[in-house]
Amino acid sequence: MNARQGWPAHPIIYQIYPRSFQDTNGTGEGDLKGVLRRLDHVAWLGADAIWLSPFFRSPLCDGGYDVADAMDVDPHFGTLEDFDAVVARAHTLGLKVMIDQVFNHTSDQHEWFARSLARDPKFEDFYVWVDPKPDGAPPSNWIGYFGSPAWRWHPQRAQYCLHQFLPCQPGLNHRNPEVHEQLERITRFWRERGVDGFRYDAVTSFYFDPDFRDNPPAEAAQARIPGPANNPFTMQRHAFDMLPEDCAAFIEKFRGWAGDDAYLIGEINDGPTSIETLREFTSDGRLDAGYVVDLAERGLIGEVIADVVQRMGSPGKLIWWLSSHDQPRQVSRVGDGSPRDARMLAALTLALPGPVLLYQGEELGMPQADLAREVLQDPFDRSFWPDPPGRDGARTPFPWDDGVNLGFSTVPPWLPVMRPPDGPASVQSESDTSVLAFYRKAIALRRDLGLGGAGIEVITAYETLFAARLTDNQGGDCVLVVNLGDAPVDIPVSVGDGTTVALSSAAQPSGTQIDARSTLWLQQA
Ligand code: NOJ
Repeated sequence: MNARQGWPAHPIIYQIYPRSFQDTNGTGEGDLKGVLRRLDHVAWLGADAIWLSPFFRSPLCDGGYDVADAMDVDPHFGTLEDFDAVVARAHTLGLKVMIDQVFNHTSDQHEWFARSLARDPKFEDFYVWVDPKPDGAPPSNWIGYFGSPAWRWHPQRAQYCLHQFLPCQPGLNHRNPEVHEQLERITRFWRERGVDGFRYDAVTSFYFDPDFRDNPPAEAAQARIPGPANNPFTMQRHAFDMLPEDCAAFIEKFRGWAGDDAYLIGEINDGPTSIETLREFTSDGRLDAGYVVDLAERGLIGEVIADVVQRMGSPGKLIWWLSSHDQPRQVSRVGDGSPRDARMLAALTLALPGPVLLYQGEELGMPQADLAREVLQDPFDRSFWPDPPGRDGARTPFPWDDGVNLGFSTVPPWLPVMRPPDGPASVQSESDTSVLAFYRKAIALRRDLGLGGAGIEVITAYETLFAARLTDNQGGDCVLVVNLGDAPVDIPVSVGDGTTVALSSAAQPSGTQIDARSTLWLQQA
């Protein structure tokens, strides 16, 4: 057990994107009653907790990460009573409940913003308002994450307002203590409704240079900053628009508001130094764990996995994950969309020590949907067409069964439904050989072997191979071997007497080789 009451030390957290999970009221969009209906699936799979992406009042201009009222449920998703029912059922099933806290910005439809725009004295400084330069230009050259200038002109105040994401997401002024009073109220509100933990959005963006100095151009190393091609955000070194060290210290406030028994995680985005920044954010009194985009966006090759392992410090603070509502689905990004590749990646993620995030649908081997321009809803995807970052393609509705719209909705859904190669959940749950069956088995075995709390030592890593020893776990040492290549290779440890295969994502290995595109867990007596 973890210091956080009732939480396992290294939880498996299942991310639900409510808009795409289950529609119950015939709108074509998922809702909280749908989450309630489908929680049994998550418990059956073996997860410890759910993380619900935003369901707060929102114009949904950034899929709900543009919050118009953080203490209410948007009518798209239901009511506060529906939320209470989700929490109660989750707890009955033994699942902890995490929700997002989007504290970097709000929607421009938030009442705070309207009052700030109108210079209501209480709200005047809730956002980052700055006068234009004498020539009318914005205060700095900063570019938002989604690729547009980070300043929006508001004629009503004759000032610029900072936004690090979409123009409709004005950034909160974290140097105003009254903003923090409001954020504390929000945190306490959800804790009182039974929430067990929080996922903090964009925690590396809260603070920036108070003098708004220009960012310099990116250096060569910055080419590794993730994102779609041709995003001018990647062309700057984010020296002044993000001050992660100030943000990390500020996290101690979150801990105070949320309480010692809450499990807290954060999205850490600091370009090529995100892993080191994560260590700052997860030191004592701060977050329990955080996640970085390295594995999802630097290319899943042996050297990158080893680099993350070596730089993360002791395991337990870095969350392992390969897909989310922000990245293209792993089985298509890294693989060819096949169940074989889905199993290979599942066995990799679930062997690594520390917390794990699973994104809804990855347990079915859901490939990335190739969507036509006309159906795209996400403004980030739309503005980078024809090279979209692929967020909507990872947000298509969950395929529950072979009924109308694959059981997601009785009406045409907000994004097209896609049937994964092994079929929808109802089909896969009846099969011993499906991707879903494999996930469930690997989750149970991870728990039996105690891999979540293991140590890790890299044995060898090159482009198509990663092998590591998982130490100090319950069942003696294990060895993880992942062959990302297209041909079988020798297993890089001696497979002598006393070595057993605990899990193989492919056929049982023949002697001393590991199959192409597969992962093995070996147990050594
Ligand atoms: C990270 C969220 O995961 C993403 O979906 C969102 O667009 C940005 N933060 C802005 O809130």
